[in-house]
Amino acid sequence: MKPYVKQDPWSIIEEGFDPQKQEISESLFSIGNGHTGQRANFEETYSGSSLQGSYMAGVYYPDKTRVGWWKNGYPEYFAKVLNATNWIGLKLIIDGTELDLATVEVTDFRRELNMREGFLKRTFTAKLSSEKRVHVKAVRFVSMARKEIGALSYELTPEGFSGRLELDSYLDGDIKNTDANYDEKFWDPVDQSVNGMRASVTVKTKKLDFHYCTVKETEIQQNGSYTPIESTPVLRDKYAGVRADIALKDGEATTIYKYTAHVTNRDHRKEELQGKAEQALEAALQAGFSQLQKEQAEAWETKWLDSDIVIEGDTAAQQGIRFNIFQLNQTYTGEDARLNIGPKGFTGEKYGGSTYWDTEAYCLPFYLATADSRIARNLLVYRWNQLGKAKENAAKLGFSKGALYPMVTMNGEESHNEWEITFEEIHRNGAIAYAVYQYTDYTGDTSYIEEAGMEVLVEISRFWEDRVLYNKRRGSYMMLGVTGPNEYENNVNNNWYTNRIAAWTLSYTLETLTTWKEKQPELFAKWQKQLGITDDELNKWDEIRSNMYEPYDEETGVFLQQDGFLDKELMAVSELEAKHLPLNQNWSWDRILRSCFIKQADVLQGLHFLNHEYDEETKRRNFDFYEPMTVHESSLSPCVHAVLACELGYGAKAYDMYLRTARLDLDNYNNDTEDGCHITSMAGTWMAVVQGFGGMRVRNGELHLNPALPEKWNGYSFKIVFGGARLLIRVSKNGVTVINETNQSVELYVNGSRITASANQEIQAG
Ligand code: BGC
Repeated sequence: MKPYVKQDPWSIIEEGFDPQKQEISESLFSIGNGHTGQRANFEETYSGSSLQGSYMAGVYYPDKTRVGWWKNGYPEYFAKVLNATNWIGLKLIIDGTELDLATVEVTDFRRELNMREGFLKRTFTAKLSSEKRVHVKAVRFVSMARKEIGALSYELTPEGFSGRLELDSYLDGDIKNTDANYDEKFWDPVDQSVNGMRASVTVKTKKLDFHYCTVKETEIQQNGSYTPIESTPVLRDKYAGVRADIALKDGEATTIYKYTAHVTNRDHRKEELQGKAEQALEAALQAGFSQLQKEQAEAWETKWLDSDIVIEGDTAAQQGIRFNIFQLNQTYTGEDARLNIGPKGFTGEKYGGSTYWDTEAYCLPFYLATADSRIARNLLVYRWNQLGKAKENAAKLGFSKGALYPMVTMNGEESHNEWEITFEEIHRNGAIAYAVYQYTDYTGDTSYIEEAGMEVLVEISRFWEDRVLYNKRRGSYMMLGVTGPNEYENNVNNNWYTNRIAAWTLSYTLETLTTWKEKQPELFAKWQKQLGITDDELNKWDEIRSNMYEPYDEETGVFLQQDGFLDKELMAVSELEAKHLPLNQNWSWDRILRSCFIKQADVLQGLHFLNHEYDEETKRRNFDFYEPMTVHESSLSPCVHAVLACELGYGAKAYDMYLRTARLDLDNYNNDTEDGCHITSMAGTWMAVVQGFGGMRVRNGELHLNPALPEKWNGYSFKIVFGGARLLIRVSKNGVTVINETNQSVELYVNGSRITASANQEIQAG
């Protein structure tokens, strides 16, 4: 499908209605506030193809695993974020004709996701008959300022007639997840009621007893003033609506306002849900739609102040990066350490809304650099809270000690059930350990590692100790039967990345403990006692990390993705005819596994994480060797390549890789946007700009920038929150300018030279 989103620096715009694109647009124009999220479904009935989706963060269901061939160790359940009560619904029958864009003629259709102010707007004209037209303007948002509030306004203006509107403004909790394994409904009714124009629905999950209460008020405005409306209730299990007859006048606008409060027993006691929802709703009603919208714009202004990227001279690139930043900010706001970032956020059901290693490997740098450090810290606390389950997971798989974090999780338990991933893609543990380092080094805040992070590091180290095998023949430690980040090879021996990140974890844990032993003996003693750390154990880790086998080829000077990699027939992707690509849609799985083709960064993922430990030539040799064999069939792939390509001076390659991530969803590059947007890879796009073109690295608590300007751009700028300051870095043909927008001075390196960005000063840095 040809890209259809109109280019604009601040908005995503679709003009003209095409039912074929509806599900793609429903994903693209999604709105969210970290607490709740909504696909861009229509308010009015739509009988065409659509994925109705409203999601509540942290409300999930353990759906019984469905698997062809059961393996011991598989989880019994796959936890899925729940598609929940539809709160936007309006049924509109105008003079006997139902407004349904699948059945009436539509003109002047325009849909806009306003990213600057955080709302979705849709306008269109529906032709009900040869003389009767209705102009519609619908605006909605979920409030960033009041997490439990959503609001919409729906304005109808008849043209060529005065008539009758039969309105049903409803809440529908009888919702099914399309990804339900056994086609079951996950919600049971608790209560539904209607009182005047107010309706409420409370539902609960069939398992885990999540209660979700939605209360809404409908108001009607005509001719600029609120109109009292006679209404009748419509009630059935999990459904509450108000039905009203409204007179429409030719040329005069009738606006339906729908204010909604959503509360769950994650945040309130079950018995008080209705009261809490009513309370939040009352406050929202008091404020009114315009005030709520103003607050929304202000909340987004603050977000943009910290995280905006400006690209001059390339609207497509500008729109792409803002879209990614917008989606990241509306998926995770970091106020609740029980929440995390699903690969599709609130934009679809694929991946069950669960947490993957994507969070630590790709998302953490974005939140670290664009928000207060407590936001990123909460991502770490999430894993710390789940450490107990990670230990249970390791024990369940037969390990005698340590923690193996799940590949996919909602509550800390493994949800994934493909043996080659669930049991073998253990490198995920490394990313979680690396996140502790990254956070501590970036923020300089040692409190997390001192209070909690060390426990995570020790338990992961213990897992590695148990997982390695001492190979007498080679006199080194190995890891057999693993899957690296490249999922196009399974059950391989000695995936370089996995071995390397395991050895790195042991080193980091040991070095931190050794430093504490010397400099903060009480802290060392505390952890030693609490975790029962022994000298023998520390010595063992030292021995393993010093003797970890790292497959390497002398002749090419590259790290081997795994022991057998060079036995494969090596060829570049460019040698394949186009008809073979993407491989995952054209080749049998075994053919993919036997081939040399790489799904996503693997050795290069290691060189990306441990960038500071390798010289440029090592990075170049490995990049030149592996990138040509990489098909980038994970959306997480191009960004890591873009960052390394920039560092190696491969400007054109970097730009090409950047383009593959920046507009991945907007241009439906992978032909799967209808399933939802690739939220976690959006953080990769940010990385491609800031760490790639901007050359940002933080090492030993020092901020380094080595900016380059892509040929196609006139200039660009990005924000970095670092050392208590917020910096605006502007890169143009005239060089690099650093503007410190805060009262806190900060030191940094630009192209190797140390500079001081004094409070509220602008400095020409290169
Ligand atoms: C990638 C994984 C990733 C997952 C979720 C897969 O296609 O190979 O690395 O964790 O998608 O984004």
